[in-house]
Amino acid sequence: TPGPSTFYPESKLATIQFRNYEIETWYTAPYPEEYTRSEKLYICEHCLKYISSPISFERHQLKKCIDNHPPGVEIYRDRVNGIAIWEVDGRKNITYCQNLCLLAKLFLNSKTLYYDVEPFIFYILTEIDKDDPLKYHFVGYFSKEKLNASEYNVSCILTLPIYQRKGYGHLLIDFSYLLSRTEFKCGTPEKPLSDLGLLSYRSYWKLTVAMKLFDLVEFHKLNKDKYKSLVISVEILSKLTGMTPSDVIVGLEQNRALVKSPSTGKYAICINQNRIKKVIDNWKRKNYATLDPLKLMWKPML
Ligand code: ACO
Ligand code: ZN
Repeated sequence: TPGPSTFYPESKLATIQFRNYEIETWYTAPYPEEYTRSEKLYICEHCLKYISSPISFERHQLKKCIDNHPPGVEIYRDRVNGIAIWEVDGRKNITYCQNLCLLAKLFLNSKTLYYDVEPFIFYILTEIDKDDPLKYHFVGYFSKEKLNASEYNVSCILTLPIYQRKGYGHLLIDFSYLLSRTEFKCGTPEKPLSDLGLLSYRSYWKLTVAMKLFDLVEFHKLNKDKYKSLVISVEILSKLTGMTPSDVIVGLEQNRALVKSPSTGKYAICINQNRIKKVIDNWKRKNYATLDPLKLMWKPML
């Protein structure tokens, strides 16, 4: 595919104003031409409307924009960690979802969809304002195809650069798997992944497999009288995590928990509990916000 600059050679857009941050853009996006003639575009964090003049932007924020959160339904709220997740239907909130796809394109190299948003649902991650509990700040999102015969549970995922490397990408990924498990399915992100997407997913798969292996072994230690043997397989890990068997294998490999027998050539899961504990402790030390599955207020769509 051609590079982004060949798509929109006229675009001068270099930064966006978002909340009170000025964010450098990474790639170009197909905003209507009149909005890409200047270097800066103003974007409302609540309705994602894009505005070229700073005065109109101020007026929009102070008077015109009545929202202080994304549209759609709040399906997850955690006041302790100060986060909430919203489900937005591409058919019901077309403009919002189109604006979201345009915004995401500024940080994605690949050609994504912008206008045909109806077949998708969007999950928006927000931070709850520390001073105003009714105000929610847009952090990132992922999109998901409504009717998909494939195993994809994420089509496109983004954390805005100002919120990156704080564990929010991991949280969004975790949420996508929580939805898949609630649907009694396993899922995987749509390919190809970007470099950052691959780094984040590999980190997630490694940690998630490590946590499951660790818990299974500890549970078995405590219940040895009841359960004589501990059986762990790729299929069991897939059921427990919502990850596809091939992504489970990637996670096992990264934990060096998959070994090939030199005599039979068959693979076996081999757990070094100390090594796995280190992986988990390293993560816990970062103190990132984690999901509480009990806080999900959601039923799968039929
Ligand atoms: N460099 C090295 N490792 C990274 C980086 C990076 N820039 N970003 C993430 N990782 C790895 C790290 O191991 C990180 O853990 P650490 O920060 O504690 O070391 C781990 O992934 C998780 O990082 P998070 O903080 O949870 O992820 P973040 O909120 O930064 O979001 C995301 C990750 C969504 C991929 C973000 O980088 C992004 O929006 N990028 C631009 C859009 C994009 O490429 N999206 C993915 C496209 S593929 C698809 O959509 C299916
Ligand atoms: Zn607005």
